[in-house]
Parts: sequence; structure tokens; C-alpha cells
Amino acid sequence: MVARVIPVETFDLVIFGGTGDLARRKILPGLFRRFLAGQMPADSRIIGAARSALDADGYRAMIADAIEEFGGDEKTNKKGVADFIARLDYVPIDAKGEGGWKALAELVRTDVVQAFYFSVGPSLFGDLAERLHKHKISTSDSRIVVEKPFGRDLESAQALNATLAEHFNESQIYRIDHYLGKETVQNLMAVRFGNVLFEPLWNNHYVDHIQITVAETVGVAGRGAYYDKSGAMRDMVQNHLMQLLCLIAMEPPSKFDADAVRDEKLKVIRALEPIEPHHIVRGQYEAGPDGPSYREDAENPRSFTESYIAMKTHIANWRWSGVPFYLRTGKRLKARASEITVVFRTNGHSIFEGEKDQQQNVLSIHLQPNEGMDLQVTIKEPGPGGMRLVSVPLDMTFADALGDQDVEVTDAYERLIMDVIRGNQTLFMRGDEVEAAWAWTDPLIDGWEARNDVPKLYDAGSSGPEDSLMLLHRDGRKWREIKG
Ligand code: BG6
Repeated sequence: MVARVIPVETFDLVIFGGTGDLARRKILPGLFRRFLAGQMPADSRIIGAARSALDADGYRAMIADAIEEFGGDEKTNKKGVADFIARLDYVPIDAKGEGGWKALAELVRTDVVQAFYFSVGPSLFGDLAERLHKHKISTSDSRIVVEKPFGRDLESAQALNATLAEHFNESQIYRIDHYLGKETVQNLMAVRFGNVLFEPLWNNHYVDHIQITVAETVGVAGRGAYYDKSGAMRDMVQNHLMQLLCLIAMEPPSKFDADAVRDEKLKVIRALEPIEPHHIVRGQYEAGPDGPSYREDAENPRSFTESYIAMKTHIANWRWSGVPFYLRTGKRLKARASEITVVFRTNGHSIFEGEKDQQQNVLSIHLQPNEGMDLQVTIKEPGPGGMRLVSVPLDMTFADALGDQDVEVTDAYERLIMDVIRGNQTLFMRGDEVEAAWAWTDPLIDGWEARNDVPKLYDAGSSGPEDSLMLLHRDGRKWREIKG
């Protein structure tokens, strides 16, 4: 199946922090792929803006190197690289002073789509917004893109929202959560709301429980200074896992548009019950054969920050009352595997003699790797010898189902940036959603800080601390195996 490419309108995209890690690793290689796919109109431009005293050629050389390093297979297209970097420009800028703003104002056109990507720390958001406004660079149609972390608690998130609101309307603000740009995450909505099959079963009458796992093999080496102040709760749960939870649990929106979808997600977050302390397990990895311990990686020998967290939560509404949602995420686990699993109930009675119980149907949605879904169903074991039952997966790995060769796998960032240019906010977090997520997260963090909770140690390369197994064992359930 050949992916359809619909060109966007001509744009000027300014990337503040254009020489930074995210810009070099994700944003520009992503834009390069969209350029090769023919999605960028010929007269669109990308303008890097950062502190470094580079000129346009210096910036182009830097980004050519970045594409060489992070550009994937497409980087071998040398003509493509040359044509792409010819679109780049650069302005040295002082976010807190006046340097560079006049030059930027001269460069950015006001008669095309304008987007300003704040790929910088949140402490600069206010300065940038104010100067864009003061120098009349932005217009009432400009879009601004901001990255996580969007605050570190409710208060700081509210302050950031208020700062941005001084110069931009909510309809101009695109808060990125790159999990929403992942192919399978969007597929979750297609599967739920594009089929009649699942909706009748999608409630507490038929669902026993839901598991959300985001397991990583990487540790925190190299970004310990940031991570040690965040931990898995702030780094992953408040945003990525919360978004997955919303998409799996929300009511059908009236249509697939930004506010209809975000209204429904917000209701889920607001309906989350507080979690009791014994339903949260925090962990920290120990040294393993292929790497140091968390404390060594974070360069903090006394750190109590969690690199792993598991929890059981409930959504207090009619659909989900009584259905536990088990969430877990961690670093340095045995495999990189992100998966949402919906485990259905059985009716408790088997008509097949000798078969004790009905097997549970399980719908697994694999985010990464091997994007796709499978549905565990019970069939008769082939061959003679009576009615023996066996549980098998109906496998819908997307690459197999859709024909591996031509399906274009767009990275989350490139998809989301193109949505910014199109003016589609559906896959971005609204200010009230972010605040509601912090309002749920804050008391949990305050709780363990007040208790001086010490994370449980777990072996690097394992499935996490033993106590997290108990979280489900106590309920007569078990985690799905973490498999890459
Ligand atoms: C980021 C977190 O938002 O997401 C990282 O800050 C994490 O700690 C990353 O590693 C995971 O993203 P992905 O796309 O690799 O699953």
C-alpha cells in the first residue's frame, strides 16, 4: 500500500534551539524525510535560531552532519540532502536580550504559515513569546510548538500556560507529546472507533483489566541531571502513559476533531481516582553486566528518584468502575517493548469437559517494536483426541497486513510537525489536559516524598522490582511478559 502524501501549505518554520540535540536528532531529520516525500512546498523555509554565532552555511553544514548521523536510510540520497539544506537559514539569537530579533523579523514572512518551535528549556518560553510579539514577528495566525517537560507540577504548568497565554491563544499553542504521533497510538482510535466489534465489549461488563507497559532498555546515562529531578512519574507517566490511558478509556468523541477528542481525554484524567500508596511501586536499577547502576548514571549516589514505576489505578465512571488499570514504565528493563493489553472477562463456565476454565480473550496493541495488534482467541487444538482447547493469537502485525515494502513509517515528530503546519491540534495536548494530569500526579509525588519512600532496587535487564509482580498477584492477575 503506497502512502498518500498531501503537501502542506507554504511555511516558515523557526526552530529556537535549532542547534540543540532534539533539533539535530529528531526535528530536522524528520523534516528532511517529509521534504523527500514531497510534502514541503518548494518555497517553504526552515530557520534555525540559537545562541551559536553561526552563519547560514555553517548551520547547513551542521544539519547535513546531523542527517548523516540520524537521517536513516534516506541520508544516502545526496542530492536530496543538498536540496533540503538549501532551504535552511540561520539567525544567531539572544532569547533574553535584543540580539538577532531584527534580523529574524526581516527573514520571517507574514503571508505564509508561520510556526515557531520552542525547542528550548521552559524557562525561555516567556522570553521568546514576548519578543516574537514585541518585534511583530508573530501574527494572530502563528503557531508555537512547545516540548515537554511542560512544568514539573501543577503550579509550574499553570504558570507556563499563563505566560504563553499572554501572547498566544490556545488555538495557536501546540504542546507536543510525541507518543501521540506514533502510528499505533493513532491506530488505537481507528480500531476503537472505526469498528463495531469492540465498542460493545469496551466496558466493565466485559473487560477484566487493562495493562499499559512502556519498557525501555536504555538507562539515563548522559541525561541524569534532568532525569534525577524528574523520575519515571514526571518523565513518562504524567504525559505519555496518561495519554495512552486516555485514548484507551475515553468515550467516543462526536467527531475526530481537536476539541472533541481533547474534551473526552480530559474527562478521563479528571475521573482518575487517587492511588493508594500500596498500589504504587517505585524502583531503581542496579548495575548489570552491560552498564552501571542508576545512581552511577545519574551521578547522584544518594538518589531516591525512580527509574521504574508501576501502579494500579481506577477510573471513576460508569464505563470503567471496578476495572483496574495497571500502568508500568521503566528504564534498563529486559526489552524495549510498549504495549497496551485489554484482558477480557470469561463467563466462568466451560461447556467442554476436562477444560477447567474458559481462556480469557486478550487484545494486545503493540506500540513498539513490531507495531500491530493481536487478539488471543480460543480454538480447538487440531487433530483427533477430543475437544482440547488452545489459545492462539489472531495476529495483525501492520507491516504484514498492509504489505511491508510500501508502507511508509513516519516518525512521530515528522507527523506532528506536519500537523502543526496543517493547523490540526488533535494530537497535541490542550492546556487544561496538562494541568489536569499534574493535578492527579502531584499528590502521588507529594505522598511518597512525605513518606521518604525508598525505591526498590531491580536488576538491570530484568522486568523490574519483585514488588511490582505482587501488585497484580494480589489481585490474582499477572503482568504480560516484556518481550521485544
Ligand atoms: C521521552 C522521555 O519523552 O520519551 C525519555 O523523556 C524516554 O526518558 C522517551 O526515553 C521514550 O520515547 P520512545 O519514543 O523511545 O518510546
